[in-house]
Amino acid sequence: MKFAVLVAILTVSTAANPIKRSDPVGIDVSSHQGSAINWSEVKANGVIFAYIKATEGTSYVNPDFGSQYAGATKADLIRGSYHFAQPASSSGSTQASYFIEHGGGWSADGITLPGALDLEAGCYGLSASSMISWIRSFSTEYYSSEKRCAMLYITTNWWKSCTGNSAAFASSSPLWLASWGSGMGALPAGWTTATFWQNSDHSSSNPGDQDKFIGGITGLDK
Ligand SMILES: *[C@@H]1O[C@H](CO)[C@@H](O)[C@H](O)[C@H]1NC(C)=O
Repeated sequence: MKFAVLVAILTVSTAANPIKRSDPVGIDVSSHQGSAINWSEVKANGVIFAYIKATEGTSYVNPDFGSQYAGATKADLIRGSYHFAQPASSSGSTQASYFIEHGGGWSADGITLPGALDLEAGCYGLSASSMISWIRSFSTEYYSSEKRCAMLYITTNWWKSCTGNSAAFASSSPLWLASWGSGMGALPAGWTTATFWQNSDHSSSNPGDQDKFIGGITGLDK
């Protein structure tokens, strides 16, 4: 069973970031997975949380968001949503508002993860300082509206090439690190750990990409 193998691989530790077998397992999904996800099966496979794509830029809403979010909720998963950044098309604050209006909000109900900002696919022609300002604009708007800091979904390489490896967000924004291998590898500047780790961009016995929460179930509940 592919999933069992994956879990076994994930017990590998690095000195700085011990990965424990007990770290809660999750998935992230988008319209690629459609509306036919069997969430009870996902839950039965041991998945505890899910991130679901809500929006992109200011003109795209995941058409399956409603059914995916409702399905994850019904299966008793801890769930949240993410926004795919389009930093060249409008300001960070405009995109944060659009995200919040279309499912990206946070609430203190014990089952909602903070909204995440998905930064990938090149630097959109922005200089490092413009990219940092754009992320700050998004993060400030998200925080002022939702009273929670948005999570940043990045790879270390993306962060290095598009922000010059800025340490400006490490003390405020939780890190959701994409690193598809046996360990997280080098973290972007300033962060001492990742909160979430996307360890595979392939589906296993579960749909979507595979993630772990670093810090145990009590930490995830918090
Ligand atoms: C979903 O998965 C559950 C648990 O594996 C199974 O009992 C159920 O029949 C599945 N539902 C559908 C619609 O496939």
